Amino acid sequence: MALEDAHGRLIGDLRVSVTDRCNFRCRYCMPAEGMDWIPRDEILSFEEIERLVRLFSRLGVSSVRLTGGEPLVRREFPALVERLAAIEGIDDLSLTTNGYLLADQAADLVAAGIDRVNVSIDSLARARFFEITRRDALDRVMAGLDAIAAFPEVSPVKVNAVPMPGLGREDVLRFCDLARDRGFQVRFIEFMPLDGDRAWQREDVLTGAAVRALVEEVHPLVERPREPHATARVYAFADGRGEIGFINPVSEPFCADCDRIRLTADGKLRTCLFSLHETDLREPLRAGADDAELERIVREAVWRKELKHRIDEPGFRPPARTMSAIGG
Ligand code: GTP
Ligand code: 5AD
Ligand code: SF4
Repeated sequence: MALEDAHGRLIGDLRVSVTDRCNFRCRYCMPAEGMDWIPRDEILSFEEIERLVRLFSRLGVSSVRLTGGEPLVRREFPALVERLAAIEGIDDLSLTTNGYLLADQAADLVAAGIDRVNVSIDSLARARFFEITRRDALDRVMAGLDAIAAFPEVSPVKVNAVPMPGLGREDVLRFCDLARDRGFQVRFIEFMPLDGDRAWQREDVLTGAAVRALVEEVHPLVERPREPHATARVYAFADGRGEIGFINPVSEPFCADCDRIRLTADGKLRTCLFSLHETDLREPLRAGADDAELERIVREAVWRKELKHRIDEPGFRPPARTMSAIGG
């Protein structure tokens, strides 16, 4: 029987963070310095991740997204992709990356069986990219994007941008060109209170509606029907060339039909991006629990999946982990 929560939602999607480490320091995610990394012996091995993903696939998960930190900094990462791609029942295996190491690894990832790749790019202007990510790496990331786009079997390729305060109209229009000229689905993601500096303020959220208004000054858009469980609201450019999406977790939450759960790099199950409570799978796994025992723990945790996040409610408390340790 599929994994189900107390609100009748079925779980089909698992996001696996393979490391909390990263080679960038994006302002909306990590502090400039002073991160405490998870100790190595607490990080799940590839064998342990594979064992859990097999279990989840038997429980109805058919889509797995690999995240970090930055997943490509995990040693031998394509070997993990190969193991997971071989699991029966996983028919969508995807990756969210900052793109810095993508040019080096694209061919290996494709050979290993990755189905889809999303690349995070927050500005197409070099100076602003540096300001947000604290790395002067726009050219290298664009080379990564080109490298993965060269493989038609990896499709669609999406670009994720978090619009931070100060995002200009020109930058938005550059993203439109990227979508229209190159066929990437560009998606703007509202800034969420998961930053390492704990500096998030509601006023800093550039909403999807605000960015869309900037786009529509130049390019009329036509809304597409929303796919079930989708994070993004997708629009086609009215002239039929390209599409653009808006992930609006703050202004238009999509919790009602959420089908996602998360596994952190240290083996904790999180039933919501904003969970205040986690369920440890690593300890029972390492203590020799059989699949029936792990299944019982997972079912119990999923049953209590949070109805929704409470970002806009008084008394909202962000989770102790910030984005890089959850996995986005
Ligand atoms: P696709 O299957 O390609 O649409 O992927 P995705 O949108 O699930 O994956 P991606 O990693 O590109 O996610 C984009 C962003 O959406 C994430 O980084 C999060 O910021 C946000 N997001 C994803 N899932 C959730 C969720 O359950 N809740 C909230 N609030 N935001 C989420
Ligand atoms: N708010 C919204 N999105 C975020 N991401 C990281 N931190 C935040 C945040 N505070 C996004 C990244 C990447 C994905 C993994 O999560 O840009 O696309
Ligand atoms: Fe690294 Fe991604 Fe966080 Fe940026 S958003 S610091 S690329 S984990």
